[in-house]
Amino acid sequence: MSDTLILGIETSCDDTAAAVVKDGYHVLSDVLQSQDDIHTPFGGIVPEFASRAHIAQVEPVVHAALDQAGIQLSDLDAVAVTQGPGLIGSLLVGVSFAKALAYTANIPLIGVHHLEGHLASVWLDSPEVPVPHIALVVSGGHTNLYLVPCRGEYRLLGQTLDDAAGEAFDKAAKMLGLGYPGGPIIDRLAQSGDPHNAPFSLPYASKQSFDFSFSGIKTALRYFLQSADTHRDTVSDADIAAGYQSAIVTVLVQKTIRAATCYDIRDVIMVGGVAANSSLRHNMRTAAEKEGIRLHHPHPRHCTDNGAMIAAAGWTAYAEKQFASLDVEPFAQGSIRTRDASTVPVPTEQHHVRGERVFHPSTAT
Ligand code: KG4
Ligand code: ZN
Repeated sequence: MSDTLILGIETSCDDTAAAVVKDGYHVLSDVLQSQDDIHTPFGGIVPEFASRAHIAQVEPVVHAALDQAGIQLSDLDAVAVTQGPGLIGSLLVGVSFAKALAYTANIPLIGVHHLEGHLASVWLDSPEVPVPHIALVVSGGHTNLYLVPCRGEYRLLGQTLDDAAGEAFDKAAKMLGLGYPGGPIIDRLAQSGDPHNAPFSLPYASKQSFDFSFSGIKTALRYFLQSADTHRDTVSDADIAAGYQSAIVTVLVQKTIRAATCYDIRDVIMVGGVAANSSLRHNMRTAAEKEGIRLHHPHPRHCTDNGAMIAAAGWTAYAEKQFASLDVEPFAQGSIRTRDASTVPVPTEQHHVRGERVFHPSTAT
């Protein structure tokens, strides 16, 4: 199955994106129309404005993706589209448009789970990433830790019990009056701050669980900002950003690396918008190297939402002939096909051979 051309369309939230990807990893075009200008004045996404902007943008964005790839609609083998989860009005635009394209070109339609798209994004920049691996999906809507035994199969080890890490970054920037989206702003600001000047407790650092919780640190920031008024001359916004970011990053790194050592897996991937965070990338790499673990992550451009990751995930479905019918509906909520962590046994001591990739598919189903 070579030279398979898949168009990926992503409209689950506030970015209209389309890309053409060959054979699941080779990006021929990658077009994205952001809506940041529309939503920034509101400090967050306004769903109705997002759907209207997608309606105006989806055709030119898809057109540009085909143009940049130097192909015609008739050259495509399939069209893959984010089916959910996300904002239902936004998803409807992408799904309806993809259906029309698939019908017109008489090619298969593939419905992609948004998280499966993020998980597949790692193949775009590192097609050789080995399986099994541990995957941290960390975005504005999710903070999930998976064991990925093979491409297209995911076992959930832990997830956020409340807010996603990206949401915690966005809310912090809003509280500090810094704008939207908050993640990149906090990331930049933190580089000139001292985290020791504004220390935050580690959110939900329990060693017994791979779950996360980021709602408490948001509240801690609110109290900090209320009480810090008197000494704002010694604690800068940059210090606050650095302290806040450091607490979130530390927990993400600790739990991800612990999952890898616990299941004796030598490869870790991190994907999703927050995986573009410079401190997370640096600290995860340092911690991974210390344990002899290889870290893989997409280029920052492929961490945040994009069409190429949807096409990459679509390629796996295409190979397995998992096609959607033309009456397929988008969904606002819903998990990726996973197995529960309780069905994934922790390797016993005798299985735990440091420096060697040991995985027992027969015991891990
Ligand atoms: O994956 P994504 O584009 O959309 C979702 O699926 O949610 O992720 C968006 C999230 C936002 O919360 C944004 O603030 C965050 O990713 N983000 C970052 C950075 N770049 C984007 N968070 C921290 N540091 C960054 N550099
Ligand atoms: Zn996303």
